[in-house]
Amino acid sequence: MTTIIRAAAAAAAFAATPVLAQTEVKIGYALAENSHYGVGAKAWQEHVESESEGRYTFRHFPSSGLGGEREVIEGLQIGTVEATIVSSGTLSNFVDEAGVFDIPFLFRDLDHARSVLDGEIGQEILAKFEDVGLVALAWGEQGFRHITNNRGAIDAPEDLAGLKLRTMENPVHITAFQTLGAAPTPMAWPEVIGALQQGTIDGQENPLSVIVSANLSEVQRYLTVSGHVYSPAMLLVSRALWDGMSEEDREIFAQGATEGALAMRAFVDDVEQSGVEALREQGMEVGELSAEDRATFQAALSSAYEEYYTRYDRDLIERIIASE
Ligand code: PAF
Repeated sequence: MTTIIRAAAAAAAFAATPVLAQTEVKIGYALAENSHYGVGAKAWQEHVESESEGRYTFRHFPSSGLGGEREVIEGLQIGTVEATIVSSGTLSNFVDEAGVFDIPFLFRDLDHARSVLDGEIGQEILAKFEDVGLVALAWGEQGFRHITNNRGAIDAPEDLAGLKLRTMENPVHITAFQTLGAAPTPMAWPEVIGALQQGTIDGQENPLSVIVSANLSEVQRYLTVSGHVYSPAMLLVSRALWDGMSEEDREIFAQGATEGALAMRAFVDDVEQSGVEALREQGMEVGELSAEDRATFQAALSSAYEEYYTRYDRDLIERIIASE
């Protein structure tokens, strides 16, 4: 009898314990967990999981585990993925203005880029993602892009002639490399390593953060530190997740995204210091473009700039250039 009463009391107590609803946030990104993407996603997760007291848990899908960046963004739109960190590779296919930051030699340095992205212009562009069913919370970072290839050193625009260079599926980048005489080959990231191994492309371009964390020295011989374009990244969540949240939880996610972006920038600062030396030690032949060389590349891009000024608001480009 006592046993029955005890069991009934225990069952009643169990039923009275509030069960905390837990929402799983699937976060997909292109690179490994030890990359700037993984580090950014982890910082975002830590903030959200601790501030929400475990009501949200993150599940990572690194190394393109949910597909290429375009597929992941589409997954966010239809609500099959909750969060992502992506490059500007395909962002301009969703919000045209996002492509303005992909213009070569637009930013003077990392500080210039960060202050534009964190300032009015960057925030205006984040807000435009609302119109395509996405919630863009913060600008993360990859760093300045450089060229790697297996054909030879690149010291001048002529060295790019006919080079089968993988680019992101990004019209601004494709125009730039076409103008410089290369043979740009847009390709989703998950196919790149295989294509380099098989020799269907000669090279690719990415920041040191990617070249180091994706071990590109195993498949590429030459590195040209060209810094030809700044590569932002973006931290986004799905509309479905956002719409189901309280104001307080939205604030937690937004603050967490800022933490993630800061962690990415710290990673980039680090790899900017140590990356080139590490890649030399791994056997890459490294050349660095001087300020004069970069000016030569910029001059060779003059017809591409005409196209960019038609595609994007001239005022916007000038505001970016004039920003401190
Ligand atoms: O080159 C790209 O596609 C991107 O920079 C990468 C490596 C997927 C990171 O977002």
